[in-house]
Amino acid sequence: MPAVPLEPRRPWKGKRIVLGVTGGIAAYKTIQVARDLTRLGGEVDVVLTQSAQKFVAPLTFEGVTGRPALTDLFSAEGAALHIKLGRDADVVCVAPATADFLARAAHGRADDLICTTLLATRAPVVVCPAMNDRMYAHAQVQENLAHLGDRLGYQIAGPVEGPLAVGEADGAGRMIEPWQIEEAIGRALAVDEVFVGKHVLITGGPTHEPIDPVRYVGNRSSGRMGYAIAQAAWRRGAQVTLVSGPSSLPPPFGVEVVQVETAQEMHDAVSARIGESDINVFSAAVADFRPSAAHGSKVKRGETGPSLTVDLTENPDVAKDTRVARKTGSVSVGFALETDDVLTNAVAKLERKGFDLVVANDATEKGAGFGVSTNRVTFLSPDTEPDALPLMSKDEVAEEILDRVRSLVDRGQA
Ligand code: CTP
Repeated sequence: MPAVPLEPRRPWKGKRIVLGVTGGIAAYKTIQVARDLTRLGGEVDVVLTQSAQKFVAPLTFEGVTGRPALTDLFSAEGAALHIKLGRDADVVCVAPATADFLARAAHGRADDLICTTLLATRAPVVVCPAMNDRMYAHAQVQENLAHLGDRLGYQIAGPVEGPLAVGEADGAGRMIEPWQIEEAIGRALAVDEVFVGKHVLITGGPTHEPIDPVRYVGNRSSGRMGYAIAQAAWRRGAQVTLVSGPSSLPPPFGVEVVQVETAQEMHDAVSARIGESDINVFSAAVADFRPSAAHGSKVKRGETGPSLTVDLTENPDVAKDTRVARKTGSVSVGFALETDDVLTNAVAKLERKGFDLVVANDATEKGAGFGVSTNRVTFLSPDTEPDALPLMSKDEVAEEILDRVRSLVDRGQA
């Protein structure tokens, strides 16, 4: 996701990624993809078609990947280059994928380096179409895409509706954004049979409890931890629903986001879905109290004298209250953000809220807790010793949590 500096991490780190670029104006966005994937630790080989080179230069890609950009099927240095590329690739992605490329790929043509590489590879393939909306809607283009998706098992990512290079569109045609392409590639690399088809329900963000139409009681949670878990679970192949309190983060790619405002709304949204869920992660920082009565109009200065007293009522406990409705054998993960007696308080939450795993952290510690992109957590589960991890990014913490969830699911709990 944008805003957080990229560093080498799973699932891109150390992976060989072939990035095919075909001739559409969206090719300029693929420069960003090549750069980000390199910063995420991937070894990125960019392959450009003749027409792609009319929009973007091979040299640009060499600059951002530090590797030669490839253009020729018949080159002196690379006899059978396509065989080597295809064999070594962990994933092949084509972005943008033009209508012409889709037609050629669907027919198994072997007239350029990217099409031959596709024939030569056994790696997963991600295709990100981009074209005029009417071209995209054409029956032949749709048939080609269906063939690539259904028959060849390619992951078709996008297109979406939105402004196109020429005029406003009536329908889909716009290539998905660079960070979404990176996530689609991440899914191809990370997909795990333990997670495929599993329903994952995640709560994230703060809740806002209204005092009046413009003020609320809330907390400093950014939602970053829950959003990172949701995105990572999607990459592993799960069907993910994120019930999110107010957050300024963009919705994770491929994830169903249910926006809520208050603890009561979060409670209702979770209650309605938890019976179907195989894995539950309660990462929201739910406000424990709400104003007993929200004013219908803005409270004016002076209206209440020199002070304003807000009477608070206890909110429902989303995790605890929905315990009885959980699916038999499902796995539940909770968080414990503490300032004192971290481990003792966290262990108590295991039992009290029916968690299989608690992720404990100390809000007073530097680099942990709210509003930062890192966390230092300790995992607690019944009958095991606390497992303390070093300071790491929230994206890495998300992967560590899912590794442990995976073991619990594997042991037959979900
Ligand atoms: N939680 C919840 N609903 C609440 C409060 C907490 O679902 N109303 C969940 C959180 O998402 C987290 C876990 O319960 O997974 C523990 O949250 P935390 O705020 O640490 O604990 P509290 O229940 O608020 O307990 P305390 O105030 O004693 O720390």
